[in-house]
Amino acid sequence: MMLAEPELLVAQRVEMFHQRQILVQLQRRIVGRLMERKSQCSEVQDAPPDDGLLPDRLCAAPAFHVNAKICDVRSGMDTPSSSARVCGERPFYDLHAEAYDLIINDPVKPWCDAVDAQLARSSSILDAGCGTGRHAAEMIARGHVVDLADAAPRLLAQAAARCPSARTQLIDICLLPTADHDAVMCRGVLNDMVSDGERAAAIASLARSLRAGGKLFLDVREAEASRERADGEPRTRSGFTSRTTWDNGLLRVRETYAMGGDVVEYQFTMRPWSVGSLTGLLRDNGLRNVSVGGGVGRRTPDRLFVVAF
Ligand SMILES: C[S@@+](CC[C@H](N)C(=O)[O-])C[C@H]1O[C@@H](n2cnc3c(N)ncnc32)[C@H](O)[C@@H]1O
Repeated sequence: MMLAEPELLVAQRVEMFHQRQILVQLQRRIVGRLMERKSQCSEVQDAPPDDGLLPDRLCAAPAFHVNAKICDVRSGMDTPSSSARVCGERPFYDLHAEAYDLIINDPVKPWCDAVDAQLARSSSILDAGCGTGRHAAEMIARGHVVDLADAAPRLLAQAAARCPSARTQLIDICLLPTADHDAVMCRGVLNDMVSDGERAAAIASLARSLRAGGKLFLDVREAEASRERADGEPRTRSGFTSRTTWDNGLLRVRETYAMGGDVVEYQFTMRPWSVGSLTGLLRDNGLRNVSVGGGVGRRTPDRLFVVAF
């Protein structure tokens, strides 16, 4: 429907108001969580030291959230994909987001070396599903211009604090706007997309964020190797335990978080990729040159490093 100019103005104002409301709600939620965390922290600090692991280090974590800027809240977040919904629920991405870097601490250099080697100096890069911005920060340090996108407010807030020069979008990466980045990197994210529709939407969305000839760098879990690793055995690090089983092409993950007080359980599903289905989707979206190799900088053998342009 075409709107007359005054109606258009009103519609734009309503949209801006709506976006501000979302931002205010987000900030309230973040500040509330931070206050909660602070009161938990003082209890922990008063208690005798136990194994010296996570709680003390959590207490020492800087107050990222209050200062972080989230400069662009898109209305796409009103109808998120299921992976984007998980971003607001999974304790790893939300309640215990401060622990993310303590648990996922694989070195950033191998990935950044591999991406950097294929880019011109000062390239513009979108880090889609940037998490806490570890790789983005390293690419900025190497002279590239990086935009951050993620659907988990508390991870994105850490990334924004770590990369003050970066533009930051709280957004479902299945709904990215058309853009002309020289490169998009999307590391460890596409496994969270389970349905065919969501996977197709994610690849199309990443592809349309690139300029013609721009490069897409992916890290995904490979199906057969993931199946072998999914033995249901508990894997524990710093109060975080996960158990993964294979279920007809899906990874069923049960996580237990014994950190900073209550024990929290969370279950979710991931879907690893076959080279054929990934390559097919990339080609359908105009990325015809696809190279697939073993994971880069990963501690486990179930990952693929994919470059497409
Ligand atoms: C396993 S973490 C990887 C983070 C980072 N790329 C890294 O390598 O450390 C997956 C990230 O993808 C984000 N994510 C998952 N689904 C998403 C979606 N639909 N839209 C935006 N972000 C998403 C999560 O919030 C999380 O930050």
